[in-house]
Amino acid sequence: MSFQMSEPIIITIDGPAASGKSSVSRLVAKNLDCDWVSTGAFYRGIAYLALKNETDIESEEAIVGLIKSGKWSVSLDFEKTKFLFDGLDVTSEIYGESIGNIASKISSFPEVRKELLACQRDCANGRKFLVAEGRDCGTVVFPNAQSKFYLTANSRNRAARRAQQEGADIEKTLKDQAVRDSQDGGRAVAPMAAPEGAHIIDSSNMGLDDVVQAVLAAVKSDIS
Ligand code: C5P
Repeated sequence: MSFQMSEPIIITIDGPAASGKSSVSRLVAKNLDCDWVSTGAFYRGIAYLALKNETDIESEEAIVGLIKSGKWSVSLDFEKTKFLFDGLDVTSEIYGESIGNIASKISSFPEVRKELLACQRDCANGRKFLVAEGRDCGTVVFPNAQSKFYLTANSRNRAARRAQQEGADIEKTLKDQAVRDSQDGGRAVAPMAAPEGAHIIDSSNMGLDDVVQAVLAAVKSDIS
């Protein structure tokens, strides 16, 4: 596919924890030969900084202070969206479930979301095409995206995937996931939700390849 437009073409893929968003986004981006961003990396990275600096995660002001410190950056990469602190790549520290839980907590602060929103939108600058995944990409970050998806799967399947990836106990993962789903879906600002007009894909009984093919087929029809 080739596009010649000044506005970037954006594909958003939202959904709950462990729904396969990152794997699908990576492969969709690879197929379309474009970049992808996990917007969760912003919340995860700041959660990591809070933990590292022993910042009070109940304090919105303190977390905003960390964001404004200017000591961090995000960089798009084929494998995983990278997070750098003081110029050091700390990506391997941010993708665990414990950081995900802190990320979910701090992501409910409106001012935190406001600060990170601008940074997330910047990811599209200078690009012709971008795949963005998260919780509010199609509703808030890129509401004008040309093609939107909401990816889900039943709770046990999602927890089983995550537990296997992390070598964790499935019942504990299931419990933590329920807390995260409820925080992410119940917060007052930008709650996780299927964007209007999104293609909803339940991947409970689908392989990764089938999901990627379904997304690519829908993208083709949305933007052709
Ligand atoms: O997708 P990921 O698990 O990396 O996201 C970590 C957390 O960051 C989520 O549980 C959610 O609370 C928050 N997040 C968000 N909005 C996004 C992406 C992630 O609130 N667009």
